Formats: sequence, C-alpha cells, structure tokens
Amino acid sequence: MKVDVILGLQWGDEGKGKIVDVLTPNYQIVARFQGGPNAGHTLEFENQKYILKSIPSGIFQKEKINIIGNGMVVDPAMFKQEIETLEASGHKLTDRLYISKKAHLILPTHRLLDIASEKEKGDSMIGTTGRGIGPAYTDKISRSGLRIGDIFYNFEEKYRKATERHKQMLSRYSFEYDLETLEKEWFAGIEKLKTFHIIDSEHFINKRLNKGDKVLAEGAQGSMLDVDFGTYPFVTSSNTVCAGACTGLGISPHKIGEIFGVFKAYCTRVGSGPFPTELTDETGQLLRDRGWEYGSVTGRPRRCGWIDLVALRYTIMLNDVTKLVMMKSDVLDTFDTIKACVAYEIDGKETKNLPFDISENIKPVYVELPGWKTDTTNIKSENEFPKEFNSYLAFLEKELGIPITIVSVGPNRAQTIIRKQSK
Ligand code: GDP
Ligand code: IMO
Ligand code: MG
Repeated sequence: MKVDVILGLQWGDEGKGKIVDVLTPNYQIVARFQGGPNAGHTLEFENQKYILKSIPSGIFQKEKINIIGNGMVVDPAMFKQEIETLEASGHKLTDRLYISKKAHLILPTHRLLDIASEKEKGDSMIGTTGRGIGPAYTDKISRSGLRIGDIFYNFEEKYRKATERHKQMLSRYSFEYDLETLEKEWFAGIEKLKTFHIIDSEHFINKRLNKGDKVLAEGAQGSMLDVDFGTYPFVTSSNTVCAGACTGLGISPHKIGEIFGVFKAYCTRVGSGPFPTELTDETGQLLRDRGWEYGSVTGRPRRCGWIDLVALRYTIMLNDVTKLVMMKSDVLDTFDTIKACVAYEIDGKETKNLPFDISENIKPVYVELPGWKTDTTNIKSENEFPKEFNSYLAFLEKELGIPITIVSVGPNRAQTIIRKQSK
C-alpha cells in the first residue's frame, strides 16, 4: 500500500497534529519524517489537551504503530520528559512507539550552540526554538553526528569526542553554561530511549507496506520553513516538503499516495523572517487573540496576517498537494470582511510567483471577501456552512486549483468536517 503524507503549507503551526490524529484510524502506521522537539503538535479530545514534540500524533489512536523516522533529530532529555508527561496521564507507549536507529541525537552541547549562535547574531537572529535543531543537523550533514543506533556501541567515547569538539566551538562565545546538569538529564534520557523498540525503520516500513499496511507520514514545521525552498536563512534545518518523507523514512517516491496540505484560513509565523501579509495592527492582534496564537513550544506570540495565496500556490506546487485541509476558519467567524493576498506588487509590477527574496519591497494585492458572521464551531456537516463561508471555500479552491477536502472549525478532534467531494 501507499504512504500518505500530511504536511504544513505555511510557516508551521497550521494544525498538522490535529489532522494526523483525526486521520490515523485509516492507517496502521504513523511516522514522523523530519524535525525534532522544535515541533509542537496540539491534540484535543475528551477534555484533554496534549502537545507532542517528538512523538508522532497518531499515538492516541489505539493499536497503531508510531515511528520516529530516520530523518528526525531526537533529544533524549526532552523525549523522556514527553514520555513521562504522557505516562502521568495514563498513556503507556512502549509497545506502540518505535524509533529509527538512524535518527540523529541532539546533544546538550547542540542546544548550547544553538542558543549561543542566536545570541551572537543579535538583531539578525533567526528566532530558533533553541532546541539544538540547527547544530544537530549540521553535524549530520558534516558527517560527525551521533545516531540512536550508536547508543549500544562504545557510546561514552563517541559522546565525549563529539562534546569536546562542541566545547571548543562554545569557547568562542562569551557564554556561561552548566553542562553537567544538562548531561545528567540527557543520559537519563538515553536510558529511557533504550526501553523502546529501536529498529531499522526503513526495513520495517517497507515490509509493512508490501504486506498491505497503510502508512501516514507526519511532517513538522511548514514548507515556507524548508531549508531549500523556505524564506532562507529564516528557515529550519530540514526538508519539510514532501520529498523529506522519502529521505526521512527510507521510502521511494513511487510509494507516495495522497498528499494532504494543511493551511490556516489566515497566516501565522513565529520567529524572524519575511512575512508579506503580516498585520501589526489591531486586526493582527484580533487574529492572535481569537486564534490563541502563541507558540506551543516556546510560548512566543505568533505573528499574524491574512492568507497569502502567492506563497500557498508555491508550496502546493512544491508538494504536488492532492488534498487541502483548511484549519481555524472559526477564528474568522466574527470578521465583517476577510482579505486574501492574490498577488504581490513589486516595483509597480504585479506577480503571482514567489520571488527569490520576499524580505523587502513587496506590497500584497488583496481581494476582500464578505465574512460569514456566524459561529461555525458547532457545525457538524458541510450542509450547515453559511453562504459566505461556502463562497470563501469556493474562492480559495479556484485560486489554488485543488479541492479543500477537510475543514477544521475548532481545536477538538470532533470539530472536523470531512467534505463529501473527498470520498
Ligand atoms: P501544528 O504544529 O501544525 O500541529 O499546530 P499547533 O498545534 O502548533 O498549532 C495549532 C493550534 O491551533 C493549536 O493550539 C490547536 O489546538 C489549534 N487548532 C487546531 N485546529 C483548530 C481549529 O480549527 N480552530 C481553532 N480555533 N483552533 C485550532
Ligand atoms: P510545528 O511542527 C512554527 C521556526 C522557528 C524559527 C525557525 C528555525 O509545530 O509546525 P529551529 O528551532 O527549527 O532551528 O527554528 O523555524 N519553527 C517553527 N515555527 N512551527 C514549528 O513547528 C516550528 N519549528 C521551527 O520559530 O523561526
Ligand atoms: Mg506547532
């Protein structure tokens, strides 16, 4: 069978986790393919809220196998914390969570290097999550990283060697740190990791696919944060686009089935970097308040703005999205009118293509649509959508060229409408 992929089409936090949780019953395996604890995927059901960082969002659907893929970077200390939080609320995961031997380890010194390098950048800082993501992927690509599979062989020596190198790098910064405390938590995390199934996940996934299982690949971040195609250098350090599912799980492009592209009915971004439709006025604040737009990992206020169809068309193209998933339209329930950016004006000329650099000199060209001014959060079927809401959906589908098959009208698992046309 095939691997369907769920990924974010904007700058992250689109609501991917919720949709993975909702769709998991249709699959046997859920596998995260990139990123690490920079992600925060929020799930809500049965009056409980969970924020998953490294654990795939299929973990709460019974009898499903969840895999931390080889494309991920794992911080054992954060992993232990995450597992213990879930255990404390009655979720035992050891039998259902498998981890790739080839996933890379985030060392305590990676975290320190991330923080130190951001401090040094000053005003031009990326605004990373400070989780050591960049330094861990840097070591992977420069072929000096440590992988989960390494923890079974001569590990202390490999760890010391890597840490010594990092300490030298840290000595260049005037930066105080307490490595001993961090290492204590980290090595306790290593012991915790050992209690899970640590596997050759590429073999496991391909075997299961050949036997007829269906796999859901869960992306983190969003395509506009992709290291190749995002707003470089204000991006994360992995390939968040669909191709990342192939390298991050060890599957051929032939095996990819549906590609679910998740987007918010407006747009947000956390951290620095260009954001052409950003609103720094009271409308932006209203979006932030109504959408509770504060980072699930760092608590930072998210920057808010109107939906950017230029950027969305670009990320839909990069991923060849087959199904669109619109999230958080309920946040717009009170708005008189809603704007959508259909083109950019640059030096007096209009373009519908995303230029190389979107940091300056861009004026969004907006179309203004009537709001629906109705509470949509209790809607159970698409027949109940207000007229203006249907017009907004039709407008987006026309502009983007593919159907919106799922609409989310609230954070809860139950507040999800699968549209008929998608069957
Ligand atoms: P992810 O990183 O893509 O999984 O998204 P996050 O979990 O970081 O951010 C999405 C936020 O919006 C979370 O707080 C969710 O609980 C919330 N959310 C998800 N879908 C909806 C929705 O349809 N409406 C509203 N109001 N909130 C939603
Ligand atoms: P989810 O999976 C939103 C952003 C950071 C920063 C940049 C680089 O929840 O959608 P990093 O720590 O990765 O080196 O930071 O990327 N960023 C995210 N923004 N959602 C995320 O994940 C993000 N993960 C990283 O804010 O701008
Ligand atoms: Mg998030």
